Order: sequence, then structure tokens, then C-alpha cells
Amino acid sequence: MNSVLDAPFVQGFVRLCGDGFAQNWHERNGGNLTYRIRPEEIEPIRAQLRADGPWQDIGTSVPGLAGEYFMATGSGKFFRNVPLDPEDAACIVRIDEAGEKYQVQWGLKNGGRPTSELPSHLMNHEVKKALTGGAHRVIYHAHPANVIALTFVLPLEDQVFTRELWEMATECPVVFPEGVGVVPWMVPGGRDIAVATSRLMQKYNVAIWAHHGVFCSGRDFDETFGLMHTVEKSAEILVKVLSMTPKKRQTIQPQEFRDLARDFHVTLPEEFLFEKE
Ligand code: 13P
Ligand code: ZN
Repeated sequence: MNSVLDAPFVQGFVRLCGDGFAQNWHERNGGNLTYRIRPEEIEPIRAQLRADGPWQDIGTSVPGLAGEYFMATGSGKFFRNVPLDPEDAACIVRIDEAGEKYQVQWGLKNGGRPTSELPSHLMNHEVKKALTGGAHRVIYHAHPANVIALTFVLPLEDQVFTRELWEMATECPVVFPEGVGVVPWMVPGGRDIAVATSRLMQKYNVAIWAHHGVFCSGRDFDETFGLMHTVEKSAEILVKVLSMTPKKRQTIQPQEFRDLARDFHVTLPEEFLFEKE
């Protein structure tokens, strides 16, 4: 029997939490992380899972995730504490056959429940599982300061955020060629914001929550953390630029993005390559 803590997916989960805290994206209990566990990752730890706990309402319906196992951070738990004691700060849950309820099968050893953003995480997972043929497994929510700051000064439009973030670093259109989506301010934790976010996840791997934070989706921990890191770095550059001048003196032009797309073999939707002024 293998220890749950020794499982590579648990170590990847824990490492991301420590790295996210080191980036200053997780004040107090800010942010949350979920990972859709592979069946072959469950088998070696199955004997340590307990299947006798109560079934709790998810708060939304995710039939596309029936029977799946997830690792999730706990609600109110601090990312900085996850590496110290993952069995207290995180959990493994199973989704029921209707996709309506979850059962905690490991972790949260001192009590608690999975993240309050579980509806958003699971609805995003459901969308991404279907869209990517099961390839995407990680949904990551963080509170990076520069992206949040931009939601006070830029129009809350996908086209504007995408174009501005792309312009700030040549790598950006290669890392997120599909762009980023923006959700206006909404009450967090519930089904409504989950529906709005998962709608954007049909099109993007990044959804920005105005005055709150960012959701990213990816295949693995490295890719998903790297996406959050790239978006926030770009936002940081934009905050510096806007702090120095109201108007950029020069920037990357639409045709230059098209040239980049050709050489880097990515498709950049024309809706983001509009002429300015
Ligand atoms: P949880 O502690 O419930 O995960 O909530 C943190 C958060 O960032 C809410 O959006
Ligand atoms: Zn949050």
C-alpha cells in the first residue's frame, strides 16, 4: 500500500501550492486548486480512501464528471500551509453517479470542506474534459495583484484584456493564443459565477474575475501554473507601462502578431487583431 502523500500527483499538487504562495498570489486562504485524478493514480492509494462519509451537495450539476476523483484545497485553508500538512489543508473527493454530490475520501483530517469555489472548479473541469478529450486535469484559481489591478482600469472586455496582455510580452500570444475571458464582478462561491466562468472556458484557458482573481485550466500542474505566471507577468508589465505613461509610444502591431502566429504555428483569432484608433 502506497502513502497518499508519496503519490506523484499529490506532490505536484503540493508543489504548486507552495509556488503560488511564493508568488504572493495567495494571501490568507485566497485561491484554490483542483486536480482530476487518473484512475491509475487512484488504484495504488485506494486502500487509504474511506468511502463511508456523508455525500454533500456540490451546489451545481456536473454529470460529465460522474464517478471522478479530485484532489482539492480545503475551504478556508491557507496555501502556505499546504506543503506543511497536505492532509489537513487538502482533500480527495469522489463525485457521485449523478454528478450532484461529493464525498470526502481522504484529507481534511481536522475537519472542513473542499473549497467554496468547488462549483466553478467542477463546471470548468466538466467543460475542459469534454473539449480536450480528457487531457485537461488542473483548474487553478489565484489572486494575482496585477491582473486584479487591471480590472479597475481596463474595460471588462475579452478583446481588450487579450490584446493588452498579448502586447506586453512576445511569448503571450504563443502561450495563450485563444485569448482570455473576463467575468464582470459577481458574488463568488455560487452557481451563477460558475456558469459564467465555465461558459468562458468553452473558448479560453484563462478566465479573469473582475476585482477578484484568475482561473486557469491546463493539462498538468506545470502548464497551468506557467499559464497563470505568464498572464500575471504580462499584467505586471502593463501596470508598469500605464504607471509611466497614459499612451504607449510603440507596441506590437496586428501584422506583427500575424507574422508571429505564422512562424510559431499558432492561430490568433482576428477578433483580437483589430486596428486601434
Ligand atoms: P476558499 O478558501 O473557500 O477556497 O476560498 C478562497 C477564494 O479565493 C474564494 O474565491
Ligand atoms: Zn478567490
